[in-house]
Amino acid sequence: MTELIQKLSRDRRLTTTEYETLLGNRTPVVRQELRRLADLDRRNHYGTTVYIRGAMEISTICQNNCLYCSQRRSNTACQRYRLRAREVLDIFEEGYGLGLRSFILRGGEDPFYNDQMLESMIQRLKDRFPDCALTLALGERSHESYQRLFNAGADRYLMRHEAADRQLYESLHPKQMSWDHRMHCLNVLKEIGYQVGCGFIVGLPGQTLTHLARDLTYIQEFQPHMVDVGPFVPQDGTPFAEEPPGDPQLTDDLVSIIRILCPGALITAPGEPEALVLAGANVVCWPLYPAQPCMDALSAIQRRLADIGFEGSTARGDCITTNA
Ligand code: 5AD
Repeated sequence: MTELIQKLSRDRRLTTTEYETLLGNRTPVVRQELRRLADLDRRNHYGTTVYIRGAMEISTICQNNCLYCSQRRSNTACQRYRLRAREVLDIFEEGYGLGLRSFILRGGEDPFYNDQMLESMIQRLKDRFPDCALTLALGERSHESYQRLFNAGADRYLMRHEAADRQLYESLHPKQMSWDHRMHCLNVLKEIGYQVGCGFIVGLPGQTLTHLARDLTYIQEFQPHMVDVGPFVPQDGTPFAEEPPGDPQLTDDLVSIIRILCPGALITAPGEPEALVLAGANVVCWPLYPAQPCMDALSAIQRRLADIGFEGSTARGDCITTNA
């Protein structure tokens, strides 16, 4: 196994079979070595800085019906809302006041947010806060739409590919959703010039180590600027409500491998950040809600990062492209 890890660290690539072998042999020694190399790569590129992004959920309304997602169209128990442009601006203003210079607007695929509406919202945000980085996470849209939003000033686009294995993807999404289209969208986003993020869920029902090895191969080929992975969390009101949650240790190990294969990437630590930051992640998303008093919460995150030897930074935090 040591040889495989050395090869990964030297060539920044393995075959799908090799990834599968590595994932199937995660002894304490292997895990520790992955952790050590990932930490080294992260330090070489980003030092001990972890970027804090202000994340706004602008809509919980979604036209899709992904089997695992609490926001799926047919979940009647999901609390639905959408923010108006004015509210988004106000929340941005508040986050900016706290020092944040990087924001994520995320939401379900909600037709209310048509191109014109988003375009004008993005222009207003970038006019008012030109020194901030703006990441969109609004799912699949047309080429024209992505181009218009980029021209309006959006810097980054995050869209998890969800599953690089077509069959697994198709088993988790209704027929109306197309694996080819999702992959096409990610390529288009990159062509347009966004800093692009992809990612997947760890521990989905039916997912095997072979599927995860394919996710790693996909990331290796696509060379994203950002990666966002997290464990499966069973959600009430979905067909997977009774399934077991994803394995957090496996998620940590995948993050370490992703750090080694994309050493300059911005890798998110969802949920409790400590373990994933120690595994190699360098981005924390911090939820911003309307009218919340948030200074204390921001200092709390910074303290937690300091406790494990990292500095939380509110700077833009652009990707250091190396082999992308
Ligand atoms: N568990 C973990 N992640 C989930 N997502 C959706 N549902 C779940 C779940 N049950 C992730 C998807 C989506 C992102 C916004 O949230 O990967 O891209």
